[in-house]
Amino acid sequence: MTSWEDDLPVVDSRTLPPDPQFLEAIGLNHAFESAVADLVDNSIDAGAKHVLVRFVRRSDGLIGLYVVDDGKGMGEDEIDKAMTIGKRRDYAAGDLGHFGIGLKAASLGQASKLSVFSKRSDQQPVGRRWVVKQASSRFDCDVLDADYSAQLIARDWGVIGNANSGTVVRWDDVRVFPKARSQSVANSFLEETLLKVRQHLGLVFHRLLEQDRFRLVVDTEDVEADEVGPPFFVEPIDPFGYLRAGHHAYPETLALTVDESDLILNCHIWPGRSQLPEFRLPGGRPDVFQGFYFYKAGRLLQIGGWNGVTHGEKHYQLARIAIDIDGAPKHLFTMNPEKTKLDAHQEFVAAVRETTGPEDFSFNRYLNDAKQTFKEAQKRDRSRRKVFEPGTGLHSRVRRAITRELDFLPGEDPIEIRWTRFDTSVFFDIDRDQGVIWLNKRYRSVINRGRSGSLSDAPLVKTLLYLLVEDLFHGAFLGSKDKDNIELWEAILTAAAETELRFE
Ligand SMILES: Nc1ncnc2c1ncn2[C@@H]1O[C@H](COP(=O)(O)OP(=O)(O)OP(=O)(O)O)[C@@H](O)[C@H]1O
Ligand SMILES: [Mg+2]
Repeated sequence: MTSWEDDLPVVDSRTLPPDPQFLEAIGLNHAFESAVADLVDNSIDAGAKHVLVRFVRRSDGLIGLYVVDDGKGMGEDEIDKAMTIGKRRDYAAGDLGHFGIGLKAASLGQASKLSVFSKRSDQQPVGRRWVVKQASSRFDCDVLDADYSAQLIARDWGVIGNANSGTVVRWDDVRVFPKARSQSVANSFLEETLLKVRQHLGLVFHRLLEQDRFRLVVDTEDVEADEVGPPFFVEPIDPFGYLRAGHHAYPETLALTVDESDLILNCHIWPGRSQLPEFRLPGGRPDVFQGFYFYKAGRLLQIGGWNGVTHGEKHYQLARIAIDIDGAPKHLFTMNPEKTKLDAHQEFVAAVRETTGPEDFSFNRYLNDAKQTFKEAQKRDRSRRKVFEPGTGLHSRVRRAITRELDFLPGEDPIEIRWTRFDTSVFFDIDRDQGVIWLNKRYRSVINRGRSGSLSDAPLVKTLLYLLVEDLFHGAFLGSKDKDNIELWEAILTAAAETELRFE
């Protein structure tokens, strides 16, 4: 029997270079939008102020993608290194690059060809291309014509402007693009994908976008029609962007010390049942977005997840923790090459569980508070009674907001809110039989501030009235209290409406 030996007996060595076919295997873990984000990382590292993601199409299908920036660009040597798989450069502290594979892996996971054109302000334009099929027999990278490269870089790229340096990355035969040659398929794919890409980029780069570090635009070019569609500026989506925290004591911080470095956990609790896009992030139900949000140099590397510190639970869905890992000891976190999540070392897990803050604040207490907040929001939800749906007269935006908050009585006609001529100066009247809240036309112009009215005008006044009187539509007849309320509200609101007229 042999035992464990630290030094094994080596007798010879062989050179076994990787088979070029492995190019076909890299980057396959990337989703389309995270692969695009990987290219944007490079543009940011190159100091770009503007980045353009452009989908290229013909009328009946998508044919490619450009990512263009006005960063510092690359010269001959740099572009060769850039195209080399696993070639690392010296990274500065705030750099997003780390592995030396992003460009190649992200691109070749998505496309059959990756072309890169680049220009430094002090050098001639250069171009290189990887063709997966060709490279999988030998590691041969194409050198592209300098004039073509120069012309492409000098094109009018809209938002990019007249930079004298920059980079254009081009993908051909993108795998997720629909194969069918059909205009309607291409249109609906584009619509969906543009949205997904904008949302993903808006989320992972939200801090950098909020700080105006750069601007990010997505558009479409139809090469047949020689037309470029409107630019969509990517808007930041802050996963901590609630209006008011769900719990009065939050946000609260927990400071961990690991290997003499401090790591701050910014613990947030969202309000229950939020409909904000910042809470209802793209790609899943809200409960999958609980947990840690790790940032490196302001770039979001992980969108929720507990990294083994606790289990995801429906009750914890309001809990989100922001952590900047820039100063953290190197061994504590391992980033996946796609930069979509971190592996946390056991030391981190233990520290989070054990650390207590001022006044005994702890991770456990935080989870409990998040759970309580969620439960109370649920309780509130259940105690809300069903209402008559608002119908014609109320703006669709308000109706959608009401739909999100309340359930409607099944089988009941919606309540309409309409203007009509009254014989008197009474501001409003309710018609339970017809299911209408009538508003006196006498006040329409003043309430609309002189603007011409429409079916769904005066949203604020109509909504207030709906909330006030909806209750009166319930039941077979009005009680005396209800009748008195109507008189009361009519008297007071009529005085208010008359006052509006005076100020006209
Ligand atoms: N848009 C760009 N502008 C300027 N240089 C670029 C650009 N894209 C890539 N590069 C150069 O190519 C190199 C390789 O890029 P790649 O994304 O493959 O690796 P990385 O960014 O260094 O590390 P990571 O694997 O973490 O992304 C970069 O380090 C950079 O020097
Ligand atoms: Mg990179």
